[in-house]
Amino acid sequence: MKAIIYQEYGTAKNLTLQEVNRPEPKEDEVLVKVLAASVNQADGHLLSGTPFPVRFTAGFFKPKHQVLGADISGVIERVGKNVTQFKIGEHVYGDLSGIGFGGFAEYALAKEKALAKKPNNLTFEEAAALPMASVTALQGLRDLGKIKKGDEVLINGASGGVGGFAIQIAKAFGAKVTAVCSGRNVNQAKALGADEVIDYSKRNFTLENKEYDLIFDGPVNHSLREIAGVLKDRGRYVAFGFSMEALLMGSWKSFRIGKHFKTLMAKVKQADMELIAKLAEEGKIKPHIQQSFTLDEVPQALDLLKNRKVSGKLVITI
Ligand SMILES: NC(=O)c1ccc[n+]([C@@H]2O[C@H](COP(=O)([O-])OP(=O)(O)OC[C@H]3O[C@@H](n4cnc5c(N)ncnc54)[C@H](OP(=O)(O)O)[C@@H]3O)[C@@H](O)[C@H]2O)c1
Repeated sequence: MKAIIYQEYGTAKNLTLQEVNRPEPKEDEVLVKVLAASVNQADGHLLSGTPFPVRFTAGFFKPKHQVLGADISGVIERVGKNVTQFKIGEHVYGDLSGIGFGGFAEYALAKEKALAKKPNNLTFEEAAALPMASVTALQGLRDLGKIKKGDEVLINGASGGVGGFAIQIAKAFGAKVTAVCSGRNVNQAKALGADEVIDYSKRNFTLENKEYDLIFDGPVNHSLREIAGVLKDRGRYVAFGFSMEALLMGSWKSFRIGKHFKTLMAKVKQADMELIAKLAEEGKIKPHIQQSFTLDEVPQALDLLKNRKVSGKLVITI
């Protein structure tokens, strides 16, 4: 089978399309014929081996896993003898980040818990755009953000992979959503359901006279003090991008001022992927795909994502 391989940490130049052996599923694994994948910032972190703590799980000097790619969709090709949830021929989607990646290939191994049935109304490309970004948005808003109907929610980084789903999921929970993005993405944020959109090149939401119940933040480009100024009493702040300040000072600040500052570490959960599939089938979420690439173009897709200017998702058709 064809796969995109890397053997050294570095840049997209280290990725090459190679012919490798098709993997064999163990008793508790399935083999998926991958029809589409999508790229995430997590692939970029594993490619470069940065920030350094990723090497604790990905390998200190060399990458432990040679095929990147977490988000996939495809068809079950083979099942191990202990597999109970999936049958050959079923259409699935999933997130392989908890089980060694491997999605940028014609076939990938998966444990059952990393997969869910593909939403019927989405193409394989659309389904592959969902897993990591949508589950991150769901877990951030629902589990840490305690979102509820009628909440005033601000999403900073609303035009990115996670942010685009966060707008739609917050609307599905009945919240009023303010999206923060660049001017070129204002119409997209509105189309995804945002009630109000702030172009960050013209307005700074931390200097405005409006308070929020929940702020969900990818770029984390404001201090906790600035954020605290626009959070309601007992309001919640959830950083999904990396913030040393939120990580180190969040609990202390929460204790001091009675507003909640948390950092999200999303986890692959089959039940959450099933809920996402249900929301997609109900028409409540749909991925916004900026561009599609072929398997040999994975390096270009990862290079483009690195600039943090992609609106929505980049998918790979295999
Ligand atoms: N915590 C977790 O478990 C978890 C899970 C997944 C991802 N992440 C992290 O979350 C972050 C975002 O991921 P993603 O997949 O959404 O990335 P992405 O698709 O690259 O999105 C980044 C977005 O940030 C926006 N942006 C850049 N500067 C901004 C600013 N000053 N104000 C507001 N928006 C700005 C860009 O929109 P414009 O072009 O409109 O500026 C871009 O669309 C990454 O750091 C990723 O590693 C964390």
